Parts: sequence; C-alpha cells; structure tokens
Amino acid sequence: MSTNHNFFAPFADDDRADAAEKVTGRAKFTAEHAVPNLAYGLFVCSTIAKGTVSKIDESDALKAPGVLDVISFQNCPAVPGYNPAKGGFEWWGLKTLYDNKVRFYGQPVALVVADSFENATAALKLVHVSYEKEAHETDFEKNRKIEAALKPAGNYKRGIEKAYKTAPVFIEAEYKTPIEVHSPMEMHATIAIWEGDDKLTVYDKTQGPKSTQNTLAKTFDIPQKNVRVITEYVGGAFGNGLRSWLHVPAACIAAKKLKRPVKVLLTRPQMFSLVGYRPQSWQKIGIGADKTGKFIGISHSAISNSSRYEDFREGIVDVSKFLYACDNVDTDYKTLPLDLSTPTWMRGPGEVTGCYALESAIDELSYQLKMDPIELRIKNFTTINPENKLPWSAKNLLDCYEAGKTKIGWKNRSAIPGKLKENGWLIGYGMGGGVFGAGKGAASVRLILKEDGTIVLQSAVSDMGPGTSTSMVKVAAETMQMPIHKIKFSLGDSDYPPGPSQGGSGTTSTLGSAVNLVCETLKQGLKELAIQQVPTFKTLAVADLDVKNEVVFSTKDPGTIIGVAELLKLSGKPLIEITKDSGGATPEMRKYAINSFSVHFVKVGVHAKTGEVKLLQIVTTGDAGKIISENTARSQMLGGVVGGIGMALKEELTINHTTGEIENASLGTYHLPLHTDIPPIEVWFVNKPDPIVNAIGAKGVGEISLIGFAAAVTNAVYNATGKRVRDLPITAEKLGFKKV
Ligand code: MOS
Repeated sequence: MSTNHNFFAPFADDDRADAAEKVTGRAKFTAEHAVPNLAYGLFVCSTIAKGTVSKIDESDALKAPGVLDVISFQNCPAVPGYNPAKGGFEWWGLKTLYDNKVRFYGQPVALVVADSFENATAALKLVHVSYEKEAHETDFEKNRKIEAALKPAGNYKRGIEKAYKTAPVFIEAEYKTPIEVHSPMEMHATIAIWEGDDKLTVYDKTQGPKSTQNTLAKTFDIPQKNVRVITEYVGGAFGNGLRSWLHVPAACIAAKKLKRPVKVLLTRPQMFSLVGYRPQSWQKIGIGADKTGKFIGISHSAISNSSRYEDFREGIVDVSKFLYACDNVDTDYKTLPLDLSTPTWMRGPGEVTGCYALESAIDELSYQLKMDPIELRIKNFTTINPENKLPWSAKNLLDCYEAGKTKIGWKNRSAIPGKLKENGWLIGYGMGGGVFGAGKGAASVRLILKEDGTIVLQSAVSDMGPGTSTSMVKVAAETMQMPIHKIKFSLGDSDYPPGPSQGGSGTTSTLGSAVNLVCETLKQGLKELAIQQVPTFKTLAVADLDVKNEVVFSTKDPGTIIGVAELLKLSGKPLIEITKDSGGATPEMRKYAINSFSVHFVKVGVHAKTGEVKLLQIVTTGDAGKIISENTARSQMLGGVVGGIGMALKEELTINHTTGEIENASLGTYHLPLHTDIPPIEVWFVNKPDPIVNAIGAKGVGEISLIGFAAAVTNAVYNATGKRVRDLPITAEKLGFKKV
C-alpha cells in the first residue's frame, strides 16, 4: 500500500503535477472555455435505426428564441473532405449533416445552433423530421449465427488445426461479452473558432491534439499550421478520444457558416451512441493438454459487431497466438455489420475480450487436469514468443504469479469448488493474466532552460488521466538530477512539437524517451558550454564533467564547479532551447518481442442465499519494466481494475431490437461499479527496467490493468460455486439464483 493516503502528508515527489488545478477547478476542460460571442450547437438525432430522412421542417425551430440556424443535409455548406477531388483526403467514417441516410438509431440528422445552450435545447423538439423507414438489424446474437452476414477479418494457423481435439484432456467453450461504453466523466465537446477563411482554432476533447489537427486541416483543406487544437485537460477517456467523432466537424461547419464561434456538446445519452464503444462479442475456445498440463492445441474463434458503414476490427484472438507455449494454434476472426454506430478502441481493445475467454478456458482446463491454474500457466510459460519466435525483451511473469499468490492468500483456496464458506458466503479464489504490446513510437519534445535554471518541456500530447505531465517531469528530474518542482511539462496544444496520440499504453515509453533524450542533450550542451565559457573548465574534457543539482562540475575535482544559471549568465544566453525526437523503434528493438504483462488475483464471496457476488480482496500485479511514477502507475492499475469489476459484474449496453434504440443510455441505468463494489486493491509491480524498449526501461500499464481481470472474477466465482458463467456480466440469475 502506498503511504500517500494521508491528506496532511507533505506532497510526494510524484503527486500529480496538475492536482491543484484539478481540485480547485482552475483546470479548464474543453466545454468550459469562455469564448466571446459563442453560439451553442446541439444535435437532433434520428428516431429510427435505418432509412432516409425525407424532410426536415425547421420553420418552428427558427422562430424560437435565440435560434440562429438549423443545419442539415438540406443546407449544409460544402466540406472539402466530405466530397474530395479524386485521390484527395476523404473524411473517415460517417459524414455528419451531409446526406439523408440514417444508419443507426440516434444518428445526428440536424444541428440546432442558438445563442445559448438553453435556447438550443428548447428548440430541439421544434425540428420536425420525417423519415422513410427501412428494416434494421441490431441483434448480435441472432445475426452472428447467419454465416452470410459475417465478414472475414483474419485467420491464423501454426502447426495442426484443431489439434486440441486430439489431446488427452481438452475443453471447448463459448464466451460472450456485451457492448461496453467508455463513460468518462467529461462529455465530449468541441469549440470551433474561425479566424478568417483558412485559419481555425478548436478546443476539443481528444487523446491526440496532433491527429485532430491533421484531420481538420485535411477535412477543410487548409494548411496544417493554420489549425490549432487545444486540449489542456481531459476528464477521462478510454479510447473514445482517439478519433474525431461527428460533433467535431459539425462544430467547424456551423462556425464557418455562421461566422461566429460555435460549441457543440454531446449530452450524456449521446455519449452512449456517438463516441464508440467496445463491440459485442462471441468467442469459442478449444484448448487441450497432455496429462502433465502441457498445451497441445489452442483454437480460438471470435465474432464482434461493427457498423454497416465501417468495418471496425480489433485483435480479439491475437493473445491466443503468443501468450503461452503451444505448437498448434489456429484462430479465426469475423465481424458482423449491424445497424449500429461504429465501435472503437476501448481500454485494452481486443485483448480485454480475448483474454477474458482464453484465461477462462485455461481455468476450465485446470479443473479437468486437476491441476492448480497457476501451475498450469507456469507449465506453459515461455520466454520466446511462439508467434514470431523472438525472445521477449523482458518477461517477469513468474515473479507476478509468486507475489500475487502470496498476497491474495492462494494457499487458502480450495481445489474443489464450492467448499469454502464464511458467514453465509461461498468463498472462491481466482486469477487471470493479461498482455499488451509495448514499444516506442516517435515523439518530439522541446526543452527550454530558463535563466533562473528552471526547465519547461513542451509536447503536443494530451493527458486523458494517467498523469502524463507528472511522469514526464519525473523522467526529466531523474535525468537532470534536479528537483521536480523546478520542472514543468506543458501539453495540450498542437502548436507544441508533435507528440503521439495518447493510446495503446505508449505514452510513457514514447514521450519519456524523448524527454530523456532532450535532457541528456541539454546536459551535454551545458558541459560543452562550461568548457568554452568558464576559465577553470578550459582544460577539462566533456567526459570528466557531470551535471547534477543545477551545477556543472568536474568529477575529478569537485571544486571545479559552476551553477547552471550562472553559466547561462556568463555565456550571455537568456535561455537554451532544444527540441529532440525519440525516433521510434530501433533495429535492436525489432529483434525482440516487447510486451507488458499483468496477473490479477481476486477473492470473491457469493452469497449462498441470494447469489450476490462480492469482491472481497484484489491483488493486481504488473510487469511493465521500470515504474516511473509509482503513484500514478498505481492509480492506473486501480482504474483498470475498477473497469474490470465493471466488465465482470456490471456493464452491459442493451438495445431494444424492435426499434434499434439503446435502452440504458444513462449513468443511472448503465451500471458501473460503485464504491461498495470495490474492495481494497493491492497493486504490485515487478519494477525491473526493460533493457531493450528504451533508455528509461519503462513500458505502459494503462491496458494491462484491465486485461485478464474479468476472467479472474469468473474463475473465482466458479471456485466459490462450481458454476461457470460464460456470458458477462455475471449476475445472480446466471448463477441459478432467482431474481430478488
Ligand atoms: Mo486506449 S483504447 O489505447 O485509449
């Protein structure tokens, strides 16, 4: 347990750099920016799931107080990216306000723009939309069984196909997961301000200011440098901010048409249909082993839904190809287009779904083998990635098994299900593992050393919550060997040097490498400057110098020393500015498989009379190289685990298939874990630097925190009750208890 829970304790080194801004409300989230003469846009959304809009009658709305315009396919100005010249950039996905086709229930068909949020809201129901309806299909369970409805999305085979069937011990099982929705606290919003015909500033909730800038520049056919995207603070995102959704161009179109700034906000119900979701899935796993537990074959099939207008795919079956040693593996993945909006990446995309099935199947097999499920995994442990045959750069999973086992009290687990009881609760222990890709992408960071010796770092990334500025300041402080409070990391502005979108657990490695590099470059520059400028340094070599605690000094003679601020003054430099790029993957990295790993352990209670499932204790372990900031990394693991509790026990988006409408598009009816659902969570990291991935030895933890967690819960519930739930979320009814 971290000791930083005493609110009166002095600030720790890795307390959030932006904590004070956030808790005092000084931090401005996208929709909160005050812009003079701002107009407010809200979407009118379709009330059919499929068909065409025959007419939009906006006359009543236009007479309502404060209404400035109602924009729809009937009057939408031309957008270059909507209708590009041959070979030009074409807007990715649905072109909002462009045509009269309805592709899903709740699709925006018009944008009401008014002088206030209230007036826009009031006018929504005065827009009269007539439709010609067509038959729709939103039912995943029904349609996944229709082979002709499916689209192939990739096959894989090594060794013998379906080899598991020839194994002395095997299991075959189907697993289902529902649609899950990101549901961050902050709702999406975009404020668009045109400063002339070809110059655009937007405030936007995005995980990638540079990617949004690029998308908008191309969509409106203006130079990239003329688009500025500002995302100072993000109130949570889990992949929903990785692409520009419909409200982003809508705000820009409206602002251009009306020649005044326009803010388009999504309402909470719209957050369930207009910014993507984790697709629904069906999976089948066959897995067989010899009598000692050595895997003989794994077969993994999956189907996940997409929309009709985009084919969204994710790596659901990929984990089965490489997580364990096995000579014979075959996978098959298909997508099912439905009359729904397009799914998107959601924390641990693909792997979350795939590991749920794989890690459940291995648990099922362990009971067949009468073998401890951890022992079974250790039996099939490998340090060579069996898919690409590359050695792992670092893989300390065995340490995770060991630590988790001790901390959760695995010795108390009964090998036979349904045997443990405490105060009327059936008790079970379970575990499940996760894996996610790690690597290093390209990112640029600018460093400014000021005359007082303080450092400002800048990069055009955004921080959706993991604490990017906090960990980047830590990397800089460690490299410079100077105090944290003298370093500031600025982000959230596309005018800064290009940084990556925050996603795929890549920020710490990618951006951290650039921060480390730019700081090393500064140290080198300071040493050279000292030799040039300071008489006592004249005869020294760079190799004999070091920089620490804001001084340059000779390692041979600690008396030869000069303060960094003094050195700047002596050189007549008001500041030093350096920009460096982390440079992406190196040839050395390509010789290795590089991943982060996790193993989650849970103790559950299932009430013997009601079937209520309660998590009693959680231990989550991570193998993600060096942990840069223990506080924020720990928080990431906590957040991922809470997401995993949601996946296992709570979350399920439901659709009324008669109308195609989402039934539970609110935080009151789409259930997320409450405080009472969350027991103490202990986080443990291996915390050993990965020698290959980058100079700082760090990999990501954002995704592994969630991947594999749901299986730990279903496995523990089986251990408690002898009942296997293969259809998330787990409910008392699915465990055979009557609804109370
Ligand atoms: Mo995440 S799904 O990479 O934002």
